[in-house]
Amino acid sequence: MGSNSFETKVKSLSEILRLGNSLNLGNTSPDIKNDLLGAECTLIKSDNLPALISMIDNGVKIDFCYIDPPYNTGSRFVYADSRSSPTPGIWGKHNEWLTFMLPRLVAAQMLLTETGVISVSIDDYEYPYLKILMDHVFGEKNYIATLILCRSKNGKGGKANVAVNHEYILIYGKTARSKLHGLLEVDLSKYDRSDEHGIYTVDGLFRKKGDASRREDRPNMYYPLYCSQDGRVFLSNERSGLREVWPIDSKGIERRWLWGREKAQLESWKLYASPGGTVYVKNYMREGKRKKIRSILDDARYLNDKATTEIKSIYGEKVFETPKPIGLIRDIIEFCSAEDALILDFFAGTGTTAHANRSLNTEEGARRKCILVEHAQPIATDHFAVQHGFVTTADITEFRLRYMQSEDSNFHYAVLES
Ligand SMILES: C[S@@+](CC[C@H](N)C(=O)[O-])C[C@H]1O[C@@H](n2cnc3c(N)ncnc32)[C@H](O)[C@@H]1O
Repeated sequence: MGSNSFETKVKSLSEILRLGNSLNLGNTSPDIKNDLLGAECTLIKSDNLPALISMIDNGVKIDFCYIDPPYNTGSRFVYADSRSSPTPGIWGKHNEWLTFMLPRLVAAQMLLTETGVISVSIDDYEYPYLKILMDHVFGEKNYIATLILCRSKNGKGGKANVAVNHEYILIYGKTARSKLHGLLEVDLSKYDRSDEHGIYTVDGLFRKKGDASRREDRPNMYYPLYCSQDGRVFLSNERSGLREVWPIDSKGIERRWLWGREKAQLESWKLYASPGGTVYVKNYMREGKRKKIRSILDDARYLNDKATTEIKSIYGEKVFETPKPIGLIRDIIEFCSAEDALILDFFAGTGTTAHANRSLNTEEGARRKCILVEHAQPIATDHFAVQHGFVTTADITEFRLRYMQSEDSNFHYAVLES
């Protein structure tokens, strides 16, 4: 594809976006005003576009939006997952899926608070198209990250000798003020040292690495330290037996320390020297400490098999082909939003987002509320779910909320129908 045709496509996308922005937000939607914010979870049984428009109309503001849209796999799931454009437009076979997603993403963007965040699950097929769409709707500058999720041990796929076992989660902020909150540190096993200030680990060098790390970048951060055999660090050679250490790397390049001399003097108790003379900043554990997530999500709690087990225990059978595991959504909610956030999932499916949110609220004392949207789309009569008594996909969502309430009488939900 030549750069010219690429530019033409991007221009056209901007055009579609302009149309999306000029959607009439006035009269099309059910009135869902205050009903939304009462219960811990509200399920709106509606096509998500009018529901989103109605939320905009009613001044609802969302702190965190997670969506797991149909991936356009062409499969016949309990919901329709085939949007192949019959007459290829500028985006080829992906045109129809993009046309479906565009106004919904524009509406989601409008709903987010100024510090809001959105995360979208997707697989290889639509990832590049979704990335460009999101760049346009949310702005490239508000792109935060793409996480790569290991979703199964073995993988699947039609390409010879490649078994795809990953998918993606794209994360964007509404503005530069949006930020991720990190995950609560619960694993204390790495804090293997202690002093009078608490337990700590040594996992970060005091010598600066990467950009602006050379001596000439910050000459006043190039000075000697004096280290004792028991790990203490001094700014002067004040006693016998101290080892002089400079911020020089293994290749002999003169670098610099992280702090100037004055701060290092005041906070020398935060420094630790290994017996070999490498200086680290102590990483103390403290209550409520949060950690970064790594961009490769590889955890047994995140596997699709886990979601299947959960669905079978809730519904008795696998009535839904593509659920997400509770542990995954729980961690996504936790690292993307504050504990009093209002969250929205407008491709709710089995309602995993509500379950994950409830588990955070009960186990970590959080107070997030969530809005789910799932359309009352009739399920094909030959589908397994119909034999289990479900008529529409939204019935499957509601069943899980009922199940959650039967397990935990403190959980309250509301249902709005358009
Ligand atoms: C991939 S599934 C979501 C699965 C969900 N994350 C879970 O853990 O169960 C996508 C869901 O979006 C629903 N959906 C598709 N188009 C929709 C629309 N226009 N309005 C509302 N829901 C829609 C489908 O019925 C399906 O349940």
